[in-house]
Amino acid sequence: MGSVSLMLLVLIVFFAACKHEPEALPQPEEPGDTTAQGIPCNPDTAYFENQVLPILTSSCAFSGCHDAASANDGVILENYQSIMQTAGIRPGNPGGSDLYEAITDDDPEDRMPPLPMQSLSPQQIEIIRKWIAQGAKNNRCDSDCDTSQFTFAATIQPIINNNCKGCHSGAAPAGNVLLDNYDNIRNVAVSGKLYGSVAHLPDYAPMPQGGKLSDCNITQIKKWIENGSQNN
Ligand code: HEC
Repeated sequence: MGSVSLMLLVLIVFFAACKHEPEALPQPEEPGDTTAQGIPCNPDTAYFENQVLPILTSSCAFSGCHDAASANDGVILENYQSIMQTAGIRPGNPGGSDLYEAITDDDPEDRMPPLPMQSLSPQQIEIIRKWIAQGAKNNRCDSDCDTSQFTFAATIQPIINNNCKGCHSGAAPAGNVLLDNYDNIRNVAVSGKLYGSVAHLPDYAPMPQGGKLSDCNITQIKKWIENGSQNN
């Protein structure tokens, strides 16, 4: 009896301790809340929340395509659960995953996102490939953002390419707002709409649609604008 209760005690302590382990699967928090201290970003790992989800929400998960309301072909690319349930992901096997096949299809007519939208960039495709190869986990990391970094080329343009450009490029950009190159991004910045929309200020449409950038990214955009929205 004594040893059984000891075992129980050990188990209870073990599970209680587990709850506080930083390695435990992190629960997604409110979009934009990356203040939580936790998992440092490893350059060899692809992260769902930091990298994969922004690509899919900005290039696929909108009205008429793969948001929950439209669900073309039954595919919903809005969040981890819907992606794992509807996008034919086989963890560890990118080549056998429908999502990866769709974004790399040799036939431009079949490739996603469909024409006239732009294909994903080789870098974006590589992030998704790596994420599936590494087990398609619901993972995130917390230290890849530094508010002292805010040049256009290294910081601002990548944020916009990954979170905004899918909707704000091409012949019929969302809201008639183009965010596809420096000049267009600067014009939106100078108008006040860029910061107003990402900071969710009153009187602006909150962006990205359906989500919010991390506080760190919003601060970087603010500093870039305050420093003259330069092409640096
Ligand atoms: C899923 C598609 C989608 C994504 C992703 C998206 N937008 Fe938008 N955006 C829209 C739509 C649709 C509108 C028009 C909405 C409206 O006027 O209510 C819009 C409007 C805007 C406007 C005009 C706002 C205003 O109040 O006049 C700005 C600026 C903008 N977006 C910036 C961004 C930025 C910056 C990002 C990325 C951080 C982004 N958007 C991501 C769809 C998107």
